[in-house]
Amino acid sequence: MDVTTREPIKQGTVLVTGATMGIGAAIAERMAREGMDLVLVARDGARLEAAAKRLRADHGVEVLAVPLDLSREQASVRLAERLRDERIEVEILVNNAGTALAAAVAATDPARVRALVDLNAGAVVELTSLLLPGMIARGHGAIVNIASTAAYAPAPYNAAYGASKAFVLSFTRALWAETLGTGVRVAAVSPGATETPMNTRQAPGKRQPEQVAETVIKALRGRGPAVVDGRFNSVQAFVFGRLLPTRTAARITGQFFRKAVWEN
Ligand SMILES: NC(=O)c1ccc[n+]([C@@H]2O[C@H](COP(=O)([O-])OP(=O)(O)OC[C@H]3O[C@@H](n4cnc5c(N)ncnc54)[C@H](OP(=O)(O)O)[C@@H]3O)[C@@H](O)[C@H]2O)c1
Repeated sequence: MDVTTREPIKQGTVLVTGATMGIGAAIAERMAREGMDLVLVARDGARLEAAAKRLRADHGVEVLAVPLDLSREQASVRLAERLRDERIEVEILVNNAGTALAAAVAATDPARVRALVDLNAGAVVELTSLLLPGMIARGHGAIVNIASTAAYAPAPYNAAYGASKAFVLSFTRALWAETLGTGVRVAAVSPGATETPMNTRQAPGKRQPEQVAETVIKALRGRGPAVVDGRFNSVQAFVFGRLLPTRTAARITGQFFRKAVWEN
């Protein structure tokens, strides 16, 4: 299947991590509407099975639910082994699972911040390196990594999260260049504030998960290495990441994330 054309996406399996809620659930639903079979990953097995059942019933696609904590060592390896056992070749990998930690670095639990980095950055690179060789060998496939507008500017009081997303963005841009000409499409999609269980706060320009899922489809059909979801967020990423001096950008984003710390 050539995901870069404007033809409806069909045939093949999409692996979505963090697929039971929020953006991941919307991406899984959108892919199922395209007739793609799915592999869904999240920690909560019951919620995962419920999501799989709903998608099978609504769209008649095959769905494999794999309950896993992707922040754990060997989780990605176990997932790849499961795929091999089930004889599933992943056509599109969507590295979506991620977690945030609104706190000052000095007040952060080291174990929690380590788990955040292991999930948001570690699992992304590990799953990518496990599944990419097969895609390159087959001469087709796609990897979409969900970053964030927080990747574009310093994120005081959400520092490890912002840094993990900057890592995802940087990794994806480099991988995009490495895979040019292989038939494998690689792109980062950066949502801004999106209404999900992770982010229930009011924010200017807030978007819905379904809009991010639509941007993922557009990114798959595009050519560039990175897409920001929505016009407001694109402007924001440009202003905070490129236009404003770091001191000014950090003061503004810091105020925003600090408020989130108070509210927690
Ligand atoms: N919402 C926003 O405003 C926003 C903005 C920018 C970027 N993003 C990014 O978009 C992605 C999705 O965010 P979201 O807001 O949709 O999050 P969410 O509503 O909290 O959903 C997170 C999903 O990931 C799963 N998950 C969490 N920890 C996991 C782990 N250790 N192993 C496997 N699965 C795990 C959750 O299920 P279980 O709890 O059952 O594991 C759930 O399915 C994240 O990468 C996030 O950083 C979100």
